[in-house]
Amino acid sequence: PDLNLAILEEVDSTNAEVVRQVGRGISGIPVAIAECQTEGRGRRGRTWSSPRGQNLYMSMGLTFHGGFSVLDGLSLVLGVAVANALEGLGASDIGLKWPNDIFLPQGKLGGILVELQGELQEGVVQVIAGIGINVHMSEVEGVNQPWSSLARAYPAVDWSRSEIAGSIINAVLDAAHLFSDVGFRDFREPWQRRDIFQGRPLEAKGGSVRGTGLGIDESGNYLLRTDEGVVPVRAGEISLRMA
Ligand code: BTN
Repeated sequence: PDLNLAILEEVDSTNAEVVRQVGRGISGIPVAIAECQTEGRGRRGRTWSSPRGQNLYMSMGLTFHGGFSVLDGLSLVLGVAVANALEGLGASDIGLKWPNDIFLPQGKLGGILVELQGELQEGVVQVIAGIGINVHMSEVEGVNQPWSSLARAYPAVDWSRSEIAGSIINAVLDAAHLFSDVGFRDFREPWQRRDIFQGRPLEAKGGSVRGTGLGIDESGNYLLRTDEGVVPVRAGEISLRMA
């Protein structure tokens, strides 16, 4: 497929840039990559630290047939695509933290921000998939959780941001096709085998539900084994934390 690729020195947020590209009615699949972001966004209204020249900040515009419910599974699908791409380049043990953080044993390696842009026409939704991966990040202020980078974790690999971007774009397009064709089904096992919550004590819904991580069901809900039985947690509103 044709890509409409914008590579920028600086941008507010690559997600916002793709929204603008879509608004201009460009042809092809919009992709924006930037050296740095001045207003990098994370999930739940957080900021995403985006120092210049060190990491990958990339967004793609994707369209799906179906209603807004495609979003639930899509977050997980993108996590699997990114994990496949990074493993193909030499990152051996990528973990996924529900719903869509990219993890290494040393800490968070990257994140995915899926934003719904709207309905293009009846039954066709436009989605912006933003992907941030720590590649060469060495020092950074304002990050409040353990983190890692590809260069830190795998110093023997010569990490190239262009190569990573190319691999991730291909993996995301492949995954988006498969997801459109067969739904979430084929992604359950590849997601599950990278689940960092599996067997861990967890709490959800602000601490009102406590249990042990069981993995995901066939739609991508996270399952907790609790004293009252198995409780599914839906993507979107709730985050899980290690108890
Ligand atoms: C998260 O883990 O909270 C999601 C982080 C997503 C960061 C990426 S960087 C490229 C794209 N542009 C943004 O403003 N955010 C995403």
